[in-house]
Amino acid sequence: MEKMTTDTTWFRECRYGLFIHFGLYSVAARHEWVQTLEEISTKEYQKYFDHFNPDLLNAKEWAKQAKEAGCKYVIITAKHHDGFCLWETAMTEYKVTNTAYQKDLLEELITAFREEGLKIGVYYSLLDWYQPDFLVDGYHPMRNNQEYLATHQGNMEGYRATMFNQVKELLTNYGEINYLWFDFSYKSRDWGSSVGKGAKDWGSEALEEMIRTIQPHILINDRLDLNKGVQTPEQFSRSKGMSDENDVWETVQTLNNSWGYDRDNLNFKLSEMVTKQLIDTVSKGGNFTMNIGPNARGLWDDNSATILANVGKWLKKHGDAIYGATGSKYPAPIDCRYTQKGNQLFLHIFSWPYRTLLLPELGGKVTFARLLNDGSEIRFADTKDIGGERLATTNLYKEITEVHVKEALDPTMLLLNLPVRQPDELVPVIELTLKNEE
Ligand code: GLC
Repeated sequence: MEKMTTDTTWFRECRYGLFIHFGLYSVAARHEWVQTLEEISTKEYQKYFDHFNPDLLNAKEWAKQAKEAGCKYVIITAKHHDGFCLWETAMTEYKVTNTAYQKDLLEELITAFREEGLKIGVYYSLLDWYQPDFLVDGYHPMRNNQEYLATHQGNMEGYRATMFNQVKELLTNYGEINYLWFDFSYKSRDWGSSVGKGAKDWGSEALEEMIRTIQPHILINDRLDLNKGVQTPEQFSRSKGMSDENDVWETVQTLNNSWGYDRDNLNFKLSEMVTKQLIDTVSKGGNFTMNIGPNARGLWDDNSATILANVGKWLKKHGDAIYGATGSKYPAPIDCRYTQKGNQLFLHIFSWPYRTLLLPELGGKVTFARLLNDGSEIRFADTKDIGGERLATTNLYKEITEVHVKEALDPTMLLLNLPVRQPDELVPVIELTLKNEE
């Protein structure tokens, strides 16, 4: 991966963002790939266009919900693979302003999110199943439609011209965009009768150059097939962080495995799992971007809204351990993760142990420990300073078994004295203040 030359500080500090998938597929309500999964022609797909009217959509409400959820940036699908545009584009009639909704939805959303202080990301699909110029490949809904194939040759040069102009519109007409999110390159795919697409097909180098001339400081993700940009592992958790600390990455995740609204799919993660995923990602030095697929009326479904709100509630008390934090060099004990910010080391406890927790390599290094949810002190024994024998006789530890004391004799360990009852939080966090030199 090529080093990033743009300033990524704001992005790293945010740590938690919201992805929004919204478009015609929200009306079909069975996955954002529905058009190609069911090989629906543009003509048949038209019914979703004709009935697209999110009448209950309140952009300000979305922005408030996102802020309450603790997200610091948002990424909105301006155009997904079906080619439908959520903004007033001059390049196609297949756009929101020609639906019953009439208004420029992207503009409404960008304005509302910006007002709430969120950074703005725009998602733009490189694939486009609506533009006749787009060369049919194995992902295209018309891949098996002989009539379509006989009448559409594809003209990627023409398509590129449209695409460049659309990207230009997005970067010119909506003020500062902080992050441009392209989706996606697949040049190694080979379906026999067609192959995938990559940098050459998109004109990625020239596209990037054009973007930089309009908004030089914008972040761009890694899906233009240029071997650079913010890395975006999708729907899986990394086992470790990046080997190069300067690599910037975010993992993008769904609540129920579908990006677009998927009515009958109730396979939702628990709030606890989402919180753990967020923590785990930050402990590995990455960002976490969670998705919502609002429904056709323009509302966040209750399941999604509740999970996001729960995580937001947790972040109100524990945000210090996430925003601006990153991984730590200290090895976390089993079932725990560390995040760190300067001399604040945050211990996230995924599974609450009985009474004691031994922290390797922290003996003699901590000055204070407390639970983050209520700020209450957690007493600890610093075996290095007080010595094992005294530890065995102090009041604080008189209830601790011999075994614990013996283990705690290891001077590299720090022994935390936990309450028996775990705090009623999705994930309890203990803040450890490190001595300055650490
Ligand atoms: C995928 C899918 C898509 C989704 C995206 C988000 O590549 O094509 O539907 O928008 O991932 O990362």
